[in-house]
Amino acid sequence: MEKHWWQEAVVYQVYPRSFQDTNDDGVGDLNGVIEHLDYIKKLGADVIWLNPIYKSPNDDNGYDIADYEQIMAEFGNMADFDRLLKQVHAKKLKIMMDLVVNHTSDEHHWFVESRKNRLNDYRDYYIWRDPKNDQEPNNWQSAFGGSAWQFDEKTGQYYLHLFSKKQPDLNWDNEKVRHSVFDVMRFWLDKGVDGFRMDVINLISKPEGLPDVKTEGQENLAANGPHVHDYLKEMNQEVLSHYDVMTVGETPAASTRDAIRYTGFDSHELEMVFQFEHMGLDGNENPVIGKWSTNQVKLTDLKQVMSKWQTDLNGKAWNALYWNNHDQPRVVSRFGNDQDEFRVASAKMLGATLHFMQGTPYIYQGEELGMTNANFKTLNQYKDIESLNAYHELVDQKKLVSSSQMLAYLRHSSRDNARTPMQWDATKNAGFTNGTPWIEVNANYKQINAKQAVNDDQSVFNFYRRMNLLRKQYDVIVYGDYQLLDPDDDQVWAYTRHLDNQDLLIISNFTERTVQRWYDLSQQSNKIELLSNYEDDQNETLRPYECKVYLIQ
Ligand code: GLC
Ligand code: CA
Repeated sequence: MEKHWWQEAVVYQVYPRSFQDTNDDGVGDLNGVIEHLDYIKKLGADVIWLNPIYKSPNDDNGYDIADYEQIMAEFGNMADFDRLLKQVHAKKLKIMMDLVVNHTSDEHHWFVESRKNRLNDYRDYYIWRDPKNDQEPNNWQSAFGGSAWQFDEKTGQYYLHLFSKKQPDLNWDNEKVRHSVFDVMRFWLDKGVDGFRMDVINLISKPEGLPDVKTEGQENLAANGPHVHDYLKEMNQEVLSHYDVMTVGETPAASTRDAIRYTGFDSHELEMVFQFEHMGLDGNENPVIGKWSTNQVKLTDLKQVMSKWQTDLNGKAWNALYWNNHDQPRVVSRFGNDQDEFRVASAKMLGATLHFMQGTPYIYQGEELGMTNANFKTLNQYKDIESLNAYHELVDQKKLVSSSQMLAYLRHSSRDNARTPMQWDATKNAGFTNGTPWIEVNANYKQINAKQAVNDDQSVFNFYRRMNLLRKQYDVIVYGDYQLLDPDDDQVWAYTRHLDNQDLLIISNFTERTVQRWYDLSQQSNKIELLSNYEDDQNETLRPYECKVYLIQ
């Protein structure tokens, strides 16, 4: 197998709006990212993925882009960006931009033109359809609730928006759209950025004839459409292949088969994808309610899904490893235990379980501190369009869910759980801002913050730092084959990795109980403990959330 720098790298995701405010307006900014580059470096990450920083009316926090070549005023300006990029490179870090090209903002000049009249040069940049029997052209639902179609009085047609109505979908079947997107990519690559995270990139090719979905709550049919591979190959050939960069596609509803087509070592499309199967395991039993639930994931399900991705892609394609991001609740609250007694141990255990799998690990800002869900009590604390729309749809309109039940769902599943400000220290607003933060700071910042963690050898931060160092030391961590042990064990996740004459054994107790387990490996005599979240090794006794990583050679 050929080796690549992006396989050995660790990515740190920065959500700039909630990272660091430097001008007291309550919103994080690019200068705030510059301020903390040494922190990211100290953690041992190699690449920064920046969520969208482009000009945007912020209907969906920057995922609705009005100009791909300008910086959002709240975040700074292009001079700030150029300075950030220079300092990132000076510190031997890399930067990955968020490329959001399934849709634009309705305020992008392409759309402003497109909606003017049916003959406009930009009309076919978007997906316009006539009404069908005076109604929407099909029954697709927007990911943020309601129909995916918006009627535009002026020209008497509907336009498609898989997300909010301020995010019209681009028409990728139009060659001019593809070339315009490629120009945007070159603009950033020629500045020197090191790659792209591509937003919902497997939704760009819509199915022929835009047929109705058959069952309510079904994922929209736009995923993995008929020409998606042609368009990505074209993008690769025209643009990406001319630069040494890294790409990761966000691909909801992609199977391992799809992923192998997107990221296969000979596919010439993308380097890796963010798959969603493990994120869907604790969703509601009722498909109409969708992701909203208070369900706890079953360990056997989580193991089965993650292990399938490990083995199906092995030797053929590459995994992106993540537990959370700006769209998902905090992992320590979701798959671990965020109560004082177990928070640190379970956050470390989850980190190790993920980072020792095969793939490129992604750390979402604050994950390295064991930051927890927001624990908001009232609806007005939420800012996220998805959360607010879901509340109105499920509680007020459909009356499917009671208000208190929905608030419980939001505490468990809302994207805002991950969007509370980064907790830097124990001072006012966790050191995030001197102004009023755009979203409330988590009340637990006095205990959980970077200043405390960096100085505490036993912190989650220093555990992550050690993992990142080990990755640079042992090839087996990056390239080894994965094998799951005991798939039916519903308390412990144990697996091995193997490369040449090196083996790893990873054992994680996912419960708050002490359990006994042992795993028989042929040459246990040469076993070295590389990492653990307890001070001593009690062999077959696994204490609450204990994890250990052994090297066997
Ligand atoms: C992706 C982004 C999410 C955004 C959506 C629409 O899923 O991660 O934050 O709302 O796409 O762009
Ligand atoms: Ca600011």
